[in-house]
Amino acid sequence: MSKITAAITSVGAFLPEFRLTNALLETMVETNDEWIKTRTGIDERRILKGEGLASSDMAAEAVKDLLAKRGISAEEIDCIICATVTPDMVFPATANIVGDKAGLKNAFGFDVSAACSGFLYSLTVGTSLVESGRYKKVIVVGVDKMSSIVDYTDRATCVIFGDGAGAVLLEPNEEGYGVKDSLLRSDGSGRIFLHMKAGGSLKPSSMETVQAKEHYIYQEGQSVFKFAVKGMADISYELMERNNLTADDIAWLVPHQANLRIIDATANRMGLSKEKVMINIQKYGNTTAATIPLCLWEWEKKLNKGDNIILAAFGGGFTWGATWVKWAYDSK
Ligand code: UT7
Repeated sequence: MSKITAAITSVGAFLPEFRLTNALLETMVETNDEWIKTRTGIDERRILKGEGLASSDMAAEAVKDLLAKRGISAEEIDCIICATVTPDMVFPATANIVGDKAGLKNAFGFDVSAACSGFLYSLTVGTSLVESGRYKKVIVVGVDKMSSIVDYTDRATCVIFGDGAGAVLLEPNEEGYGVKDSLLRSDGSGRIFLHMKAGGSLKPSSMETVQAKEHYIYQEGQSVFKFAVKGMADISYELMERNNLTADDIAWLVPHQANLRIIDATANRMGLSKEKVMINIQKYGNTTAATIPLCLWEWEKKLNKGDNIILAAFGGGFTWGATWVKWAYDSK
């Protein structure tokens, strides 16, 4: 019997309607369109507005989109893995809430916290579940409501992040399509450069932590930038080498959308021309766990069965990784 691989068989997404443009940011903090564009590549980002709306609402919409496109019912799903650093609440897991909102009555679910690499980490876990032969339909959803942890008086972070959700369905394949290989890394010593100071067991929420603005993203941008450029480029190259893939073999690079300069550096290291790189940072900013599935969703119609695609990410933790996917269907 041939080996079972885990193929992506459907992609869904959700993007909030509200557009936070660079022009609007100029009215909120001391910044300008030119600085944001040249330093990050971002024109606008989407923000989830509305009382009582959370990450799970965006993820549930992405899941429903994916199910409708695949033409299957919610009851058929065995497992949902939710990558997020902006869960609805500390517990229960957002995956459980998404399962409830999307009607996944027969699925178990759990969250993965790996910041911008969360989708790749979750994809690897989901792949293993499918490859084991025990689970037939696994959803991996990357979602973040970054606006819930961004300080809109801090110009160094508020121009970067946006909200959104993207999801993929993994199913068994016996023809060799799907997730072929993955290299994942983490280095917890990098936490000093990118984290949220309070709200965890180290520093529980209090009046003082709120007053000190310790429930927002803390980032030392330049340091993260240096690690990200090297980390994402090196691991993507290592994945290519280990699988004897040349630039000509690769149809698409799907990089985490944190900064256009980091994306360019990764593509250069891999020897890929810009036409082979999925870039939508200008429209959505950095949606953390959602960037990679949002790219797959946006480019889906351009993907052909058999295309070699490299997914790559770097983020808080530090966490980073690269994954090789052989695309399993034509969706034109
Ligand atoms: O996805 C998770 C992982 N995160 C990342 O990968 C992010 C990596 N880091 C970055 O993308 C970049 O470091 C940033 C986009 C965050 C910042 O860009 P930078 O080129 O590293 O800028 P900088 O922090 O070195 O700041 C340069 C200058 C400073 O002014 P002075 O000290 O030179 O006078 C900042 O105060 O730019 C200033 N600045 C701004 N100016 C206008 C910082 N933010 C802004 C702003 N508008 N929004």
